[in-house]
Amino acid sequence: MLYLSPNLFLVNNKYRTVRPVESGDLPQLYMETYGCQMNVNDSEVVVSVMQDAGFRLCREIDGADVIFVNTCSIRDNAEQRIWGRLDLFRQLKKKRPALKVGVLGCMAERLKEEILSHPAVDMVVGPDAYRQLPKLLEAVTNGGKQMEVRFNPEETYADISPVRTDPNGISTFVAIARGCNNLCAYCVVPFVRGRERSRDPKSIKREVEELIANGYKEVTLIGQNVDSYFWTDPEHPTEDVNFARLLEIVALIDPKLRVRFATSHPKDMGNGVLYTMAMYPNICNHIHLPVQSGSNAMLSKMNRKYTREKYLERIDMIRKILPDCSISSDFIAGFCDETPQDHADTLFIMQLVKFDQAFMFQYSERPNTKAAEAYSDNVPEEVKTQRLNEIIALQNRLSLESNQRDVGKTFEVLVEGPSKRSDLDYFGRTSQNKVCVFPRGEAQIGDYVMVTVHSCSSATLMGTLAEKRSPRK
Ligand code: 5AD
Ligand code: SF4
Repeated sequence: MLYLSPNLFLVNNKYRTVRPVESGDLPQLYMETYGCQMNVNDSEVVVSVMQDAGFRLCREIDGADVIFVNTCSIRDNAEQRIWGRLDLFRQLKKKRPALKVGVLGCMAERLKEEILSHPAVDMVVGPDAYRQLPKLLEAVTNGGKQMEVRFNPEETYADISPVRTDPNGISTFVAIARGCNNLCAYCVVPFVRGRERSRDPKSIKREVEELIANGYKEVTLIGQNVDSYFWTDPEHPTEDVNFARLLEIVALIDPKLRVRFATSHPKDMGNGVLYTMAMYPNICNHIHLPVQSGSNAMLSKMNRKYTREKYLERIDMIRKILPDCSISSDFIAGFCDETPQDHADTLFIMQLVKFDQAFMFQYSERPNTKAAEAYSDNVPEEVKTQRLNEIIALQNRLSLESNQRDVGKTFEVLVEGPSKRSDLDYFGRTSQNKVCVFPRGEAQIGDYVMVTVHSCSSATLMGTLAEKRSPRK
């Protein structure tokens, strides 16, 4: 995901040394973000820190004094893309020797000196060190490469209001926890983002209230595993906050605010969350519950800590408590020792659950993980690709069937912006997280409207505005 941010305003001129600042000539930061929503959110924290230090964000790389690239390590191809970008930045630096380049995020944390030694790179900064960016940049400017990749198990950036850069200003992400303790065998996240730490619910509430005051209508609470969110205050031991309680706190802020969350973990998602969802109509009816594989042998090897039977029990409970809830998943094709039968088990669980949406990946071995250390990456690439293609083909059919079941029904949609295909249409999402496109009529961006679905593809619902008003209007 390439992500470009809009302009910000200079707060002070502290960084004159980066480029001579004449009147109206401000130090400019260009940011690129790769990877997940947590990275997008982190980049917004970085922008906030840099804005306070006197930087202005620019849209064009050509005008930049400083380039920050916030990186992802989840799969090898994500890292290969970044190396390609660094080679391009090296060419830019030949033409503009004063240009500074910082590598931030997961890849910075994972590769440390290896990234720092790239000729384009001036600084390498891990995900827990963003408060130090201005200081590090100053040190770079005064001579010499800089690196700060230490973990800080206390850091949640709770007091920093991320500078929102979403183009629509309607829906955004709020981080509720950082890091992960789960150690899934294939996953690099615990190594690059450190131990899990939950954020103070008071600061989460304050951030959501600020977003509402700024016109936002929807927040997605994000964490690697939202179900292990836990906050305890030694002074108020009876007021512990688990994820179900946090959801309730956020839902109660304003019934007009829609609340989403991701990612849920099948081993931890309890019924409390489901009952909270059922109780508050402004909590969206969608759960992202990655199963990864349908084979118990693979799940055990992946260290997911549930069996497919347990997973299916969770699904049954969701369907019982929340009959209108959509369910999405992640899948990994071709994990270590995966047999044709293991793969068939994945296709089978997909058909059983009938996932509404999914993100599907080919297994990519990541250094230092349990899988890299203890197992052999022994499924040939072409077999991984073949299995992934089968998973994708099946999911496309399931997504289409899921959307076809919605034809003729009317949904509340939060209008997010013009549709990609036609300026005459808007797009928004249903509570179930399905993209819905419809002719604009009298609707405005940020409105809740009711849309009756008349047709669909596997990715989109198409509809028209219904007479009925949304109860949230
Ligand atoms: N290879 C392939 N996919 C991976 N994921 C995480 N690590 C890997 C890996 N090494 C996928 C999982 C996870 C999603 C965010 O990325 O499906 O849920
Ligand atoms: Fe990675 Fe597993 Fe943590 Fe998700 S829960 S970030 S897959 S270790």
